[in-house]
Amino acid sequence: MSGGLFDRCRLPVIGAPMFMVSRPALVIAQCRAGIIGAFPALNARSTGQLDGWLHEIRAALGQGDAPFAVNQILHRSNDRAAADLEVIVRHEVPVVITSLSNPAPVVEAVHRYGGTVLHDVIDTRHARKALDDGVDGLVALCAGAGGNTGRHNPFALVAGIREFHSGLLGLAGGISTGQGIAAACALGADFAYMGTRFIASSEADAPKAYKDAVVAAGIDDVVCTRAVTGVPASFLKASLAAAGLDADRLPGADGNMDFGAGGAGKAWRDIWSAGQSVAGVRGVATAAAIVDELETGFHEGRRRLSGAIKRPRCTFTAEG
Ligand SMILES: Cc1cc2nc3c(=O)[nH]c(=O)nc-3n(C[C@H](O)[C@H](O)[C@H](O)COP(=O)(O)O)c2cc1C
Repeated sequence: MSGGLFDRCRLPVIGAPMFMVSRPALVIAQCRAGIIGAFPALNARSTGQLDGWLHEIRAALGQGDAPFAVNQILHRSNDRAAADLEVIVRHEVPVVITSLSNPAPVVEAVHRYGGTVLHDVIDTRHARKALDDGVDGLVALCAGAGGNTGRHNPFALVAGIREFHSGLLGLAGGISTGQGIAAACALGADFAYMGTRFIASSEADAPKAYKDAVVAAGIDDVVCTRAVTGVPASFLKASLAAAGLDADRLPGADGNMDFGAGGAGKAWRDIWSAGQSVAGVRGVATAAAIVDELETGFHEGRRRLSGAIKRPRCTFTAEG
């Protein structure tokens, strides 16, 4: 896409794609509020519905709104990937976020119309591989993230990726405040990638009880486990308990939990995912109100970094 990715944004933020939670209403609200909104293509029940959603989003957004993004899960279990990509190309989706395996075919198709491809990575090996495959930028998925989480510390992973990548880089995992966005930028990231913060938004397609559980939860109420899906992912302990499971005594780490037929759907629908950033979620609000609050915090964070706001033992200026 021409110009900078965040030229039409109020904040350097992507509202991260969330399975079963991000649908057109949230994406449109995020883009109107001034951040990039995103949803997983697989949230649409079919490729035909994806086509309809892209029409809806295009029709709702104006020239002044932020661009939007679609997430493509590149896993062999996704038998819609090729058909969905055709629809994405037809709509010239401005930003495509790829997850899991080889993004090269997506890169080729999206670059043909001038779109941007970002790939999320959990370590430097995957980061180098994605760059070799031609992606335009990376999202560093760090420890504590909602959904399938990373395991590395954000300070270390951003520094590690910056050793060999000077291009576009986002930071994901644990960011719930504007101060966190400013901190991500101070670390060397170009943008923050925030999922959990938007589960408790009015426009998110999550049941009220899920949103309330995110609001009620603190950092210790989130558990990272392989037991639910087979890969490390973050879940609310309360939803595990409601499913009759003890978060401290989960079955083996091989994803062998028996959910019966349609287990994967139950894993996300009934066992609720959220990251450690629940700690910063105080209530349900519209996406616009959340972005307003993030902007206030972002500017405060920047003032603090510049030394204008001083606190005992919390400033790095010599006289502080
Ligand atoms: C409920 C939920 C569902 C998610 N589903 C997806 C998904 O379908 N595809 C994806 O790439 N990431 C998914 N994620 C991960 C987010 O895109 C993002 O990486 C993560 O939320 C960032 O960490 P945070 O939650 O601490 O902000 C999901 C996260 C949550 C909380």
